[in-house]
Amino acid sequence: MTTETMTIAEPVKSALLRPAVPVPPAAVEPAEVGAIRVEAVRLDFFYGKSQALFDVSIAVPEKSVTALIGPSGCGKSTFLRCLNRMNDLIPDTRVEGRVLLDGEDIYEGSVDVVGLRRRVGLVFQKSNPFPKSIFENVAYGLRINGIGRRSELPERVENALKRAALWEEVKDRLRTPALSLSGGQQQRLCIARALAVEPEVLLMDEPASALDPIATQKIEELIWELKTAYTIVIVTHNMQQAARVSERTAFFMMGRLVEYDRTDKIFTNPGQRVTEDYITGRFG
Ligand SMILES: Nc1ncnc2c1ncn2[C@@H]1O[C@H](COP(=O)(O)OP(=O)(O)O)[C@@H](O)[C@H]1O
Ligand SMILES: [Mg+2]
Repeated sequence: MTTETMTIAEPVKSALLRPAVPVPPAAVEPAEVGAIRVEAVRLDFFYGKSQALFDVSIAVPEKSVTALIGPSGCGKSTFLRCLNRMNDLIPDTRVEGRVLLDGEDIYEGSVDVVGLRRRVGLVFQKSNPFPKSIFENVAYGLRINGIGRRSELPERVENALKRAALWEEVKDRLRTPALSLSGGQQQRLCIARALAVEPEVLLMDEPASALDPIATQKIEELIWELKTAYTIVIVTHNMQQAARVSERTAFFMMGRLVEYDRTDKIFTNPGQRVTEDYITGRFG
């Protein structure tokens, strides 16, 4: 199969040609990317007797965006939750294989799971602000983790809101309820809440799927900005979005990692027939 013989779905092609966000740097070879930050090694995952992930191995370079794509039910969210042990909260589940954060196995008995989830933050598909003020939503993680002194809270909250590109819109109404914000603002608030505890890795599960196009573009621009400081893994069912925001893309199907490569390669010249069928919209 060659690029010439392949029909790329028109919207994906145009997203690759004209990214909505600043043009990505020329694609980099693995050797040129930064150190590996997160790595899954031969990971299997089970809900009871039902196996959801099969032998998944993937290495995520630091300060980059890695997109997870694939049909609904293929295990993207399950895999993402394995990276900060969020699946531990689901009864009767089991992990085999390893997940390394900076080379250390996060499933080792000695690992402090609360500390792990501080280092590896998760932003959900549906924004989930608490019924509290904007300020309290961002301060929440700082308070429960006992981070910083009380007098430092306002500055930390401000910084997190700035990094989440929300500060200018809310700085005059920090004490108003978070639920009065628009959907897109609420999602950026949840990103601010995740950033406030200063994570190293940010996991995002379809963070823009409930948002309108303008709010989606803001989130995509934000992701592009955040990757200068964070290692980001994002699940998206939107292939144009994967093409726009990520440098590397992993294609999952039926619990298996089919292909993982530079995003431009996956979308223009994938190595597997089934990847091509998926991105050209033959199923999905
Ligand atoms: N809490 C759960 N309990 C049992 N099975 C689950 C649970 N969550 C997901 N699954 C199953 O695991 C598989 C992968 O689901 P998921 O990771 O949510 O896929 P995706 O995010 O790609 O849509 C599906 O078959 C789904 O039904
Ligand atoms: Mg999912």
